[in-house]
Amino acid sequence: MSTDLFSPITVGRLALPNRIVMAPLTRNRAAAGNVPQAMNVAYYRQRVTAGLIITEATQISPQGVGYPATPGIHSAAQVAGWQAITRAVHEAGGRIFLQLWHVGRISHPSLQPDGALPLAPSAIRPAGEAVTYEGMQAFVMPRALDRDEIPGIVEQYVQAARNAQQAGFDGVEIHAANGYLIDQFLRDGSNQRTDAYGGTLENRARFLQEVTTAVCAEIGADRVGVRLSPENNFNDMHDSDPQTTFNHAAGVLSGFDLAYLHVVESDMITGSSSIDYSQVRTAFGGHYMANCKYDLARAQQAVQSGAADMVSFGTLYIANPDLVERFSSGAALNTPDPDTFYGGDEHGYTDYPFLGQ
Ligand code: PHB
Repeated sequence: MSTDLFSPITVGRLALPNRIVMAPLTRNRAAAGNVPQAMNVAYYRQRVTAGLIITEATQISPQGVGYPATPGIHSAAQVAGWQAITRAVHEAGGRIFLQLWHVGRISHPSLQPDGALPLAPSAIRPAGEAVTYEGMQAFVMPRALDRDEIPGIVEQYVQAARNAQQAGFDGVEIHAANGYLIDQFLRDGSNQRTDAYGGTLENRARFLQEVTTAVCAEIGADRVGVRLSPENNFNDMHDSDPQTTFNHAAGVLSGFDLAYLHVVESDMITGSSSIDYSQVRTAFGGHYMANCKYDLARAQQAVQSGAADMVSFGTLYIANPDLVERFSSGAALNTPDPDTFYGGDEHGYTDYPFLGQ
């Protein structure tokens, strides 16, 4: 039988029954204290037939936050909240990784402890506005991290990975994509450091390398995935040579024997893409998860041709808890409602109908 989207695959220590992955999705529905709550349990449990669930991006520390009502993994209450989710997913037969997130400059003093400035590799203010509890507010000039502060941030990733294990996750995905802290180091539009963390490709990838090294040492590389987004301009991101930058980053990651590399293969908003992702895949060498605007036909083609080992789906998973069953039976898909993507209650979250409902 030839390999397709419905073929099993072993990823790290996990046997996935299919190659259809629920992509990380920010939904802004955590309770006070950025604590996961009952409706979040129901939401993830509904999507349990995914080969793998990757959670929404989750703050590793109080400084890592950039949006209202996004969950964290740094407090005891947050760990307990996530425990209820991993238990429900495992009892229903599923597998779940936690996405580790530090937003860097994509934040606002009103979201930060003591109203502090957001942190970044360099003091470069992104164009655009932060989402705050008081509405949209212009991004501020971030504070460039001192070199001697960087080990402390790496340690926040390690502690978060430890907390994720305690919360019962099967593994973690290091969020190095979409204009957040690690990506801000990787791309030259947001990194103008003149120390060992800026300038050359090697230096810009150093923070990613250090975080990955430390998290793998803590929980095992076979429990760690990494997400990259070479061409996503979201959050005012730019790189002068994304092919070279991300071939290099993928090459750095090839040395770890990670569970997978997860790649957002175009601009998230426009879908435009001009680099060759097979080079990124080859530079990495391990399991490759493709993402961004895939439908069933393109995903099947990617897996059958060997361009990808797995494909993750974001918007389609918002609207279709039983996406695997709908794909395998050729059933119609529910239509996602963008008005309920970010924030709110169960409506547009846990009330999309299953097949036959
Ligand atoms: C978002 O809130 O729009 C968002 C969050 C995390 C991402 C991408 C987008 O990685």
